[in-house]
Amino acid sequence: MAIAVYPGSFDPVTMGHIDILERTSQVFDKIVVAVVHNVTKEALFTLDERVDLIKKSIQHLPNVEVECFNGLLADFLRARDATVIIRGLRSITDFEYESHMSMMNKSLLPDIDTVFIMSNPCYIFISSSGIKEAALLGGDVSGLVPAAVEKGLQEKLQRYLFKTK
Ligand code: PNS
Repeated sequence: MAIAVYPGSFDPVTMGHIDILERTSQVFDKIVVAVVHNVTKEALFTLDERVDLIKKSIQHLPNVEVECFNGLLADFLRARDATVIIRGLRSITDFEYESHMSMMNKSLLPDIDTVFIMSNPCYIFISSSGIKEAALLGGDVSGLVPAAVEKGLQEKLQRYLFKTK
């Protein structure tokens, strides 16, 4: 059984991520989305909120599961019997960062490989940080994020406006 892990911050998950899951879930028997607790990055959504938003957005993908983790990605893969890391690529800038990360993971756990998948051209400009900035400044991000995320962003915006009044 080929098990792959799709790791990331997913703060929040976008249609670009969902598109990658839709395509790779046809290739692997099981995919575990690993939502990272990154102490160096301040997140808009809590870890639980991010996991919940992904779960709500992948109900049509029965072989995809969602978990959170902290620590080494290589250890997470080993514990799940996974042999592949999935990462999306949007640009050459992504490639530079991703290639180093993939080599580091390979040196930590030689049995694993990173599979890169090009983002769908219609989502290539989307990033979680761009989505947050646009949404929190009142921009319309419908179609760029799943419906559950759009609602979550609106709730964050309302809370932010209420706090600053
Ligand atoms: O969505 P992101 O923030 O680009 O994802 C980066 C992520 C989570 C894949 C990366 O930071 C990671 O793998 N973190 C876990 C810690 C780890 O294993 N580091 C060593 C590999 S460079």
